[in-house]
Amino acid sequence: MSIISDMAKDHLWLHFAGIGTNAPTIIERGDGCYVWDENGKKYLDALAGLFVTQIGHARTELANAASKQAEQLGFYPIWGSAHPPAAQLASRLAELAPGDMDRVFFTTGGSEAVESAWKLARQYFLLIGQPERTKVVARHTSYHGTTLGALSITGIPKYKEPFEPLLVKQTTHVANTNALHCTMCSGSCNLMCADEIEAAILREGPETVAAVYLEPVQNSGGCFVPPPGYWQRVREICDRHGVLLVSDEVICAFGRLGSWFGGQKFDYVPDMITFAKGITSGYLPLGGVITRPFLADAFREAGGSFLHGITFGGHPVSCAVGLANLDIMESERIVEHVADLEGYFRAGLESLLDIPICKEVRGSGYFYAIELMRDPEAMVKFTEAEAAALVVDNLKPGLLDVGLLARADNRGDAILQYSPPLIAGTAEIDEIVEKSRKVLTDACRVLGY
Ligand SMILES: Cc1ncc(COP(=O)(O)O)c(C=O)c1O
Repeated sequence: MSIISDMAKDHLWLHFAGIGTNAPTIIERGDGCYVWDENGKKYLDALAGLFVTQIGHARTELANAASKQAEQLGFYPIWGSAHPPAAQLASRLAELAPGDMDRVFFTTGGSEAVESAWKLARQYFLLIGQPERTKVVARHTSYHGTTLGALSITGIPKYKEPFEPLLVKQTTHVANTNALHCTMCSGSCNLMCADEIEAAILREGPETVAAVYLEPVQNSGGCFVPPPGYWQRVREICDRHGVLLVSDEVICAFGRLGSWFGGQKFDYVPDMITFAKGITSGYLPLGGVITRPFLADAFREAGGSFLHGITFGGHPVSCAVGLANLDIMESERIVEHVADLEGYFRAGLESLLDIPICKEVRGSGYFYAIELMRDPEAMVKFTEAEAAALVVDNLKPGLLDVGLLARADNRGDAILQYSPPLIAGTAEIDEIVEKSRKVLTDACRVLGY
């Protein structure tokens, strides 16, 4: 315990955490793939903070870019005027985004990006004379943020229940792409999970549906990779019914999957991409929505503005850091590095499947989950209580103990999840695997395997 941890315990409201029970771990500094707590203990940051720190901690280039921009122009809004960093970053994103996507609306984070895309869709449909289109289809167990609009799209009942009276009702949720537990297709996969999106659109009334929100690889539940052809089928469905396809890439963009965006990994062009997190490697907050030309054309032709703005959206210092981050990602060939090593990472994690509670490794790029089960061979899951005990009493403290910041999660089935900085090499991957083996083996011992 220190003065700082006391201050945190007594005055700081931690996100998604209990109040004032234990003094929290205080992370004091970082370097590359590692962070250190206030007692000098070193941790391998195998979650990149929170799926954020693409190029690692303590990059002087990003600190310098921020300081240089703050000296030049510390703040000016992009409400009606522009500044060089926002214009340059928007143009850079238009180059990197798939297909003809060419215009960016900046926000300060992911939830705002998700909500902005919904409002943009709504106003677009008003402009083109389809005012009934307001609804959104998203997937079960998906996380799209916590502000009220974004939370309405999120598909995790536990997070929504307390706020149900406040939520936007125009959302419906369908199957995700959890292949391990899929009960929809008999025999081989025939994309029933994608077809469920069409069924939901038809049920709601196609003329009332504005958008479908999907992550390229769904984070929550544990890195659900789409089956081959899924995105193409969803694209067809959206086109058939005039519904906008929103690819929520708050986690998956900027190299996380070994591509700039999900569209390049899985070969599709959405109508909007929502992004945040990795755009600045987290050195400053920034998010946004990348759009296809027909959306901006509707606003241009109507001569009206998008009635939406956020003071700090497209903040000049954040955009300057975003540009510097993309420079580094390009000059250090970070996306290619992830694509080169994704097989090595996966193979390392798969070597853990001999541990009695490890069932499956799934994911893509530098984004993986191991699903944990009571009896993997017989496909017996942990009960909710067992999973909570395993995660809270066992895996979380075990991970801290060995100095590995990975995510032990039981919001869906029990999983251990990894999303390290994209600069991680074979040595860091080996360390992740070795430390995970210790934590999982210790957990098995406690559980009596
Ligand atoms: C896919 C996705 N969308 C939206 C969000 C919300 O982003 P933020 O926490 O920046 O509001 C997240 C956060 O993890 C996310 O993973």
